[in-house]
Amino acid sequence: VLSIPQVHRAILEEGLRAPSAHNAQPWRFAVGSAGYELHYDHHDYLPFDPDDRDAYLCLGALIETLALAAQRHGQRMEFALGLERQGSDLFVGTFSFRAARPDEPVDPLAGPAADRHTNRRQYRRDPLPAALEAELGALGCTLVAPGAMATMVARASIHAWRDRRFVRDLRTWFHDDPTAPTGMTAEGLLLSRIETVALHLAFRAGRLPAPLATLYASRDVRLLRRAASVAVLGADDPGPAAMIEAGRRLLRAWVAVCAAGYAYHPISIALDRPETAPDVAGVAGVAHPVAVFRLGRPRRGAPRSNRRTLESALLPEAKGPAEPVGTCPGAASAR
Ligand SMILES: Cc1cc2nc3c(=O)[nH]c(=O)nc-3n(C[C@H](O)[C@H](O)[C@H](O)COP(=O)(O)O)c2cc1C
Repeated sequence: VLSIPQVHRAILEEGLRAPSAHNAQPWRFAVGSAGYELHYDHHDYLPFDPDDRDAYLCLGALIETLALAAQRHGQRMEFALGLERQGSDLFVGTFSFRAARPDEPVDPLAGPAADRHTNRRQYRRDPLPAALEAELGALGCTLVAPGAMATMVARASIHAWRDRRFVRDLRTWFHDDPTAPTGMTAEGLLLSRIETVALHLAFRAGRLPAPLATLYASRDVRLLRRAASVAVLGADDPGPAAMIEAGRRLLRAWVAVCAAGYAYHPISIALDRPETAPDVAGVAGVAHPVAVFRLGRPRRGAPRSNRRTLESALLPEAKGPAEPVGTCPGAASAR
């Protein structure tokens, strides 16, 4: 029988608001003897994420979201990385909570983290405040002019829409039911009825012919050109531990942006495509770019995305560490 103290339950539930690519929410928790285990479920694998970059980033984002949520509840979280796998399960690590000491400072991002969300609307071109630029720089983000990134995103997007794996990934995680607990909906993606019909046509065709791919790509590019800036976040190396650490910084960057009254929208496609990823690295001068997002002052707020319940994210029992892993398993079998 699982027994979770009320304060931990509140933190875990708020942690589940962490961002993940396609809102796949690949994380699972297990109640262990000395705290909680964090696992990654490969059944929520994204075939278009063959290096598991998005998976590791969102695991890092989850860890940081949990750590900040803990602070809102007068607690502190300790996390120990495990990275061991068993079949389709990746044991990411263990975490525990303890009461904060009276003199322990509260992270300034703890409060604003509760309100973080992606905003895919159009932005104004108001320049970013210098303090925000400095904060993003300290978190390992390089800011690039939108124009410099637009041609790469256009090329990447056209390649993606012509690629069956990309379209299949999107089809897997796109749900017509606006209340679906995981995945993306037309409401969340701000698609009009016509755009939703067009997306279903793309799903049926499996990939798009070049002229249609160009048309689909133009939306991303238009939004990007109107942004105030584009950020490129780098990791120390392409290994799992460094990617998880980068995911923690990514989450902090996104919270800092929202806290300043600005908005962000990830554009992963430029890094997903082998045709454009090296150019992104070159333009930004970042050796291992792991995330690209546009930034600006939003014209309107964005809808709140759905989440799975805590119960559905809990594994029936703790699994503990098993065999060591270099990269995530499952890529070959899932593709
Ligand atoms: C690593 C990562 C990559 C993402 N890439 C994209 C992207 O390319 N395009 C996009 O619209 N959203 C992207 N997202 C945003 C997710 O779709 C979003 O976080 C999720 O739907 C939950 O919504 P929320 O961020 O508003 O809570 C990405 C998120 C993460 C963590």
